[in-house]
Amino acid sequence: MNIMVIGRGGREHSLVQKLAASKQTEKIYAAPGNAGMKEAVCVAIEEGDHDALVSFAKENDIHLTVVGPEVPLLEGIVDHFQANDLKVFGPTKDAALIEGSKHFAKQMMDKYDIPTAEYQAFSDLVEAKAYIKGKGAPIVIKADGLAAGKGVVVAETLEQALEAADSMLGEGQFGEASSEIVVEEFLAGDEFSLMAFVHGPNVYPMIPAKDHKRAFDGDEGPNTGGMGAFAPVPGLASSSYDTAVESIVRPVAEAMVQEERPFTGILYAGLIETDKGPKVIEFNARFGDPETQVVLPLLKNDLEQVFLDVMDGKDPELQWSEESCAGVVVASSGYPGGYVKGRPLPALETSDSAFLVHAGTALENGTYVSDGGRVLLVGSKGNDLSRALDCAYEALRPLHANEDFFYRRDIGRSSITSSSGSDE
Ligand code: AMP
Ligand code: GLY
Repeated sequence: MNIMVIGRGGREHSLVQKLAASKQTEKIYAAPGNAGMKEAVCVAIEEGDHDALVSFAKENDIHLTVVGPEVPLLEGIVDHFQANDLKVFGPTKDAALIEGSKHFAKQMMDKYDIPTAEYQAFSDLVEAKAYIKGKGAPIVIKADGLAAGKGVVVAETLEQALEAADSMLGEGQFGEASSEIVVEEFLAGDEFSLMAFVHGPNVYPMIPAKDHKRAFDGDEGPNTGGMGAFAPVPGLASSSYDTAVESIVRPVAEAMVQEERPFTGILYAGLIETDKGPKVIEFNARFGDPETQVVLPLLKNDLEQVFLDVMDGKDPELQWSEESCAGVVVASSGYPGGYVKGRPLPALETSDSAFLVHAGTALENGTYVSDGGRVLLVGSKGNDLSRALDCAYEALRPLHANEDFFYRRDIGRSSITSSSGSDE
């Protein structure tokens, strides 16, 4: 079978790597892909050029297309492929709204009693401010629509909250995406991510993962797309995981069917383990990045078969390695603010269990150079989280003192109960 992955980041490289290990996959195309995707043929078609992607799929006998990022999903790429009788794994535009509108997601959770933070949605600034003042800080302000991961302000003071409402609603900080905002209760607790393969009401959950969103060690600095991740999550009780599946992910999938927006694809729940059990922070309609890079290496199944089974309504019988997997993102200095591209990357040696996943890299005269904010991820499997981290950090040594790049030194640290010396 020929298969096409749409997207260009680390998540998509990880999908390509896993599909390359699939017995039945003949040729993998990535559109547009990235320079590190040696396992795929990269095709210079942008994610948003749906007509060209459909034509390419027809001309190249693509049996299955997997969509990585949210933007094409919300633009209706799946509907477009389906209208052309092409097999595609991902939610339709209507179903992807669970990520595309935070207000819609909150309404669904309200209606179907899915545990989440208390909230109100506003398009009027005066009303929003009155509500915020009534509630007080800490409080969370969210742009309704997609804002490239920048649309959430966790306000510690009332001033910050009012300022966020002013920028989003008053000044149109994110354009149409912030013409409405959700103001919600601040939830305290540990976060984790739970992704599941979903087809209508059928839910096949993956192992839990944890992402590190802040740029710097100790969860300091601005929010980023994700600076590292690991799976599974040692501190997460299996009862909490089961509750998250049975009282959050499964009911949401069923609710989407009820609402005539049946969801096929990856449903990603961003969760906080509160003292009243797991509650939803957000839903995404796609694989997480960088969670995918640490979850897929632990999947024992043939990934292409999993996609096909899920779409056929069959249980893919997911099987997971007992190992842990950790990944550390290498970013360009300055990210998530301004940064310079084109900086040469040193060769990174990986041992048997370590691996590299490319995101923002380009190939210039045989050398990889930076071509984005998040450049690559160095990952490793190990018998436990501590060993996986040791091995990933060992492979990162050549970048230790390189001023063009930075990476967090504390990925997974707070989850290691008995340190085995990952003191990088
Ligand atoms: P999001 O872009 O929705 O993933 O939100 C970014 C980050 O904001 C999350 O990873 C959380 O750390 C934080 N956050 C979002 N909503 C809440 C909430 N209701 N309470 C506490 N933290 C939150
Ligand atoms: N890692 C968070 C996300 O993919 O949205």
